[in-house]
Parts: sequence; C-alpha cells; structure tokens
Amino acid sequence: MINDDIERVFLDEIQLRAIVDNIAEKINLDYRDQEIVVAGVLKGSTIFLADLFRKLTVRCYLDFITASSYGSGVVSSGNVKITKELSLDISDKHVLIVEDILDTGNTLSYIKEYLKTQNPLSVKICTLLDKPSKRQKPLKPDYMGQVVPDCFLVGYGLDYNEEYRNLPYIGILKEKVYSK
Ligand code: IMP
Ligand code: MG
Repeated sequence: MINDDIERVFLDEIQLRAIVDNIAEKINLDYRDQEIVVAGVLKGSTIFLADLFRKLTVRCYLDFITASSYGSGVVSSGNVKITKELSLDISDKHVLIVEDILDTGNTLSYIKEYLKTQNPLSVKICTLLDKPSKRQKPLKPDYMGQVVPDCFLVGYGLDYNEEYRNLPYIGILKEKVYSK
C-alpha cells in the first residue's frame, strides 16, 4: 500500500478543503466582475485545481500548461522548459497560474515571464503550498494555502517519480523512499 511510504499526514482532507475554500473566497472577491483564464500547471496542480475551480463563482476559463524543471528526482534542476503551451488566447485576459507547490521558484517565475510575453492584462500566481526555504528566485505567490517546511511532500496531486498523486491527503514521504 502506498500509505506505508508516508512518514506522517501533513494536511488531511478536511484541512485541504478549508484551504481551498479560503483561497476561492479571495479569488472570487478580487476578480469579481472580471474574467480569468485559470492556467493549471500539469500535472501536480490537477487535483487542487479540480477542487478550486468548482468553488469559483467568477467567469473563468480553464487551460493547462506543462513545464519541467525537476527531471525525476527530488531536487529542482533550475533548467525550465515549456513542454505544453496554453491552448487559449490570453491576450487582454487576466491569467491566474495554479500550481501545487512553489519551491525554488524557477518553474513559476519562468512560466510567469513566458505568459507575460503573450499580452495578458495581468498574471497572478496561486499555489497550494509554499516552501520558501528553498527559494532561488524572488517570487511571492498572490494566493497561497500553506507554508511548508523543507521536506518532500506527496499526495493530492504532488508526486515523487510520478507516484502518490492519488493520495487524498498531503503526506511527508519517508526519507528511505527517495534515498534508495
Ligand atoms: P520549483 O521550480 O523549484 O519551484 O519547483 C516547483 C515544482 O517542483 C513543483 O511544481 C513540484 O512539481 C515540484 N516539487 C517541489 N517540491 C516538491 C515536493 O515537496 N513534493 C513534490 N513535488 C515538489
Ligand atoms: Mg511535480
């Protein structure tokens, strides 16, 4: 069972729901009377985004972008590439990037600058988790769920080597799993 690889639960389903509700409330207030393109960063944001998107009451469009920086390990490479573009035209639109976790900031700062070249009205960042201890780029999320310590988290979309995304909670991965 994949649960056996988890050191302890960091955020359970009830806590996650409260975080999502709280973020959605702020977004609904900030963007009232406006339209937004919600740009999920594949694949880690999908579970969070599915929950968040259904709580939005503003007029919004859904799109996805894929960038890779990590390779397959637990350390960010800093070498970001866009591997799937948005399919919608974001010119003259407000864009909200949705990500699972902001770590070094390399991925999101690259995506943000990249999207800004497509003439949007604005680009903001919404991340479920923030790991500020590892930051390499001076980037602050506009919407953030929970600050996390320097440990490797999985579940609710977050993966280690593409595994554990299906856990309904966020857990701390046992060190022995990734030090093997
Ligand atoms: P950054 O470019 O270093 O900010 O990397 C952000 C990406 O690294 C996220 O989208 C995640 O996919 C991944 N990441 C960073 N920390 C973790 C973690 O604790 N668990 C799972 N993925 C992580
Ligand atoms: Mg990932």
